[in-house]
Amino acid sequence: MLIAGNWKMNGLDASLSEVRALVAGLKARPGLKVVICPPATLLTRVVKEAGSAIGVGGQDCHAKVSGAFTGDISAEMLKDAGATWTIVGHSERRQYHGETDAVIAAKAEAGWRAGLGVMICVGELEAERVAGKEYEVVSTQLANSVPADAASHIVAIAYEPVWAIGTGRTATAEDIVKMHAHIRKELVARFGDAGAKIEILYGGSVNPKNAKEILSQPEVGGALVGGASLKAADFLTIVDAAP
Ligand code: G3P
Repeated sequence: MLIAGNWKMNGLDASLSEVRALVAGLKARPGLKVVICPPATLLTRVVKEAGSAIGVGGQDCHAKVSGAFTGDISAEMLKDAGATWTIVGHSERRQYHGETDAVIAAKAEAGWRAGLGVMICVGELEAERVAGKEYEVVSTQLANSVPADAASHIVAIAYEPVWAIGTGRTATAEDIVKMHAHIRKELVARFGDAGAKIEILYGGSVNPKNAKEILSQPEVGGALVGGASLKAADFLTIVDAAP
């Protein structure tokens, strides 16, 4: 079970108190991985506060090792700063930075090249769900943004229906069960037994109230939490809800 917090563009030095509170309140349990993905500006400081209790991840990485890419951060830089994970392909990167499945696949490979675990995000837009195309969209994203060698690396797939992100409109348990089963089927079809072991996280308005129900659903291997990961008390409630 992997519970990851995506802080997005939130967090200043004062936010380190939340990391300290998270470390203090975390009850280590076998098989439970907890990761925080802070803004890059805080990463080394979060690593220092997190110690061995919590993994730290990037929210994105460039596909190249280094070069003339102003403002970008390579996977090797994340690793050098103490990260052990990175998110790639978040819908906000797809939306605001025009990232394609091919770019996301290259970023995933970069994460593994640097020795990071990689959380690859997929998820449909509201219009695509209304049109009944959600499974087709997610299948295409899986096929084109999850590299062929994914199952031989540390990888998780995060299903984040875009219409549930930051909206308070969480997908229903039925929606989650059906889509996670679909993703599992696709992963096994492509990677065989190794595909059965890839954790499938749910993200999209996970909060202390709905976490227990969501995390208890079949094929839910964890959560990628946005807003509710910013406060240690909320995030700890979600972590404690893990079965
Ligand atoms: O990556 C997690 C994020 O997209 C979910 O955000 O605020 O709906 O939990 P939120």
